[in-house]
Amino acid sequence: MNPNRSSNLFDPERGENPLSLDEILTHLVTERIGRHLTILEEVDSSNSHLAREAERLPDGAVCVAELQTAGRGRHGRAWTSPPRRNLMFSVVFKESSIPGPIATLIGALSTVQATRGVGDWIALKWPNDLVSESQDDGAVEKKVGGVLSETKTDRAGKPFLILGIGINVNSRLEDFPEEIRERVSTLSFLSGQVWNRNCLLAEILNRIEALWKSTEATGTESIIDEARRNCSTLGKQVRLRIGDQVIEGEAVDLDPMGRLLLRDETGYVYPVELGEVVQARRIT
Ligand code: BTN
Repeated sequence: MNPNRSSNLFDPERGENPLSLDEILTHLVTERIGRHLTILEEVDSSNSHLAREAERLPDGAVCVAELQTAGRGRHGRAWTSPPRRNLMFSVVFKESSIPGPIATLIGALSTVQATRGVGDWIALKWPNDLVSESQDDGAVEKKVGGVLSETKTDRAGKPFLILGIGINVNSRLEDFPEEIRERVSTLSFLSGQVWNRNCLLAEILNRIEALWKSTEATGTESIIDEARRNCSTLGKQVRLRIGDQVIEGEAVDLDPMGRLLLRDETGYVYPVELGEVVQARRIT
């Protein structure tokens, strides 16, 4: 289930590294996820595409795009990426009761697991970001990817979930707008290697399937434990933006629903379901 790590690294001798159905399928060991897989040269958003097509697609269908013209992130933000260098893909779950926040954790942790071994530590920044954290002071977090889970309903009123993941794989830092360059990173920059996107995609899908299956079978305990082990937010004093409100506290833990447990200055611990960590510093 875990293709040889080194196969994730692309041999530049082979020239360009376009997405290839054959190569992805060679490394895919799933039963459910990615058995219907569409590679699109261009799409508005792989999440939007799957939402439109969900009714005619099987459970676990995947759409991966070389370019998104209207890629979306959380909080209504755009997700932009140059063509053919990164990964932008979505999976549709039509037969699952896993809620959005847990799906987001599964997407993020599958990516953390599949990229383990790059030069720096890729961590989950609660609730949906993938960041590389400097090992020295933990102060500088650079965004490497993000997850967008969306729940929709079909025409019969049946809910389905779309799990979308964007990862900065091989793009150069110059590809990013100057104003965000300081705050982003890529797998290639961190590892000093060009990555094979086909192997990486297959490995992430393999891991999503394994984590999804175990969560459906045994509940959220093990995925929350994995999130605790890989979460850069825990143990820090954080400032969170929730709509127009900003709150502060110590991020002490995650609860079984994937909510962040914050301790305020009086010692009271309470769960936070939504929000964006706008500042985090280690408690000394
Ligand atoms: C975020 O950081 O806020 C989440 C970013 C999610 C981006 C991915 S790219 C593939 C999928 N399609 C989209 O339009 N968004 C997600």
